[in-house]
Amino acid sequence: MNILVTGGTGYIGSHTVVELIGAGHDVVIVDNLSNSEEFVVDRIEQIAGIRPAFVKADLRDENALRTAFSDFEKIDSVIHFAAFKAVGESVQNPLLYYDNNISGMITLLKVMNDFGVGSMVYSSSCTVYGESDKLPVDEQSPIKRAESPYGFTKQVGERILEDLAVSRGFSSVILRYFNPTGAHDTSLIGELPLGVPNNLVPYITQTAIGEREMLTVNGNDYDTPDGTNIRDYIHVVDLAVAHLRALERLSEGKNADKFEVFNLGTGKGNSVMEVIKTFEEVTGLKLNYRIGPRRAGDVVSIYSDTRKANEQLGWKAERNLADMMLTSWNWQKAVSGLNEKSNR
Ligand code: NAD
Ligand code: WQD
Repeated sequence: MNILVTGGTGYIGSHTVVELIGAGHDVVIVDNLSNSEEFVVDRIEQIAGIRPAFVKADLRDENALRTAFSDFEKIDSVIHFAAFKAVGESVQNPLLYYDNNISGMITLLKVMNDFGVGSMVYSSSCTVYGESDKLPVDEQSPIKRAESPYGFTKQVGERILEDLAVSRGFSSVILRYFNPTGAHDTSLIGELPLGVPNNLVPYITQTAIGEREMLTVNGNDYDTPDGTNIRDYIHVVDLAVAHLRALERLSEGKNADKFEVFNLGTGKGNSVMEVIKTFEEVTGLKLNYRIGPRRAGDVVSIYSDTRKANEQLGWKAERNLADMMLTSWNWQKAVSGLNEKSNR
């Protein structure tokens, strides 16, 4: 199939493009490089042996999008990753997030409609559940009022697709990622956080390599076995494979509904301290950390019920926390020189 991937030079997008090419699909990436680098296209080619087409364009630029859709053979489906994703930044600058994430998606869907493309795999997030009353969280769990503008953009994106299923039979698979981490085994692609990372694992690896002085654990007085927050960390390559399954489900017409939602996690919760310990075990390093105060807005514990993805999508996470820590560390070592060059 011909697949257009928005945000395809980004962290999860690039790993997914590698899997798509590996499965024999032709890929067109559309990305404005606002949070990624063009060399990622070379890296994808190095890993996959085939170079994906790349169009540098902003999703809000309707003319540029039209050109992208018309320049290539008929696009069969779209995987939509492109969005801003920093929770704190979205609180500071909500309009930036509403414009980029929501306006961008609307423009994309309008152009898709004009070009007769009737399906999408959409990047959503466990953030739509907020603090769930029931653990593990299944797809029926209620969507709570979003804690951040970022989280709200994910809820709106889902709702738009749900409405389009009704209005024009548009088919979508919504993938709610839990906490993506890890990198490709080759260490050629991985996460490239801009500035000081918000997320735990890049903060750990940057501290271990000496780019940050010390990790602060955001509170150890929660009602969990060791007092630190529990999350469901999921390897980015496992996530990438799930996108392939979702696409196959759409193209083979196996979707039970025009609008379907799947949780993507391992189903296992790990505390912040367990992540640190696993990192230390697999790398043999001692991490410099201290216990700090709680971070505003953190949910205490969340991990996924993976049964629906296992049974209906035919997908199961295969990589464990040790694999995630090792590949993240190998990537950090490979990328530290790059960081200096590109000032990331
Ligand atoms: P990323 O920032 O690495 O990738 C997003 C890509 O989209 C970047 O390459 C960026 O340049 C591009 N982009 C952003 N706005 C654009 C626009 N208007 N036009 C064109 N390109 C644009 O992020 P990621 O971690 O790969 O996340 C991918 C998707 O998954 C996002 O939608 C994010 O909200 C969602 N998600 C991420 C996480 C996570 O923790 N990484 C968790 C849940 C959901
Ligand atoms: C994990 C745990 C922190 C940094 C975020 C988004 C969510 C989704 C995934 C996009 C928490 C603790 C962190 C540090 C720490 N993204 N921590 N010290 O907050 O679970 O989820 O990414 O959709 O929407 O909110 O991930 O990696 O920031 O934090 O102790 O320096 O690590 O408090 O308990 P989070 P995270």
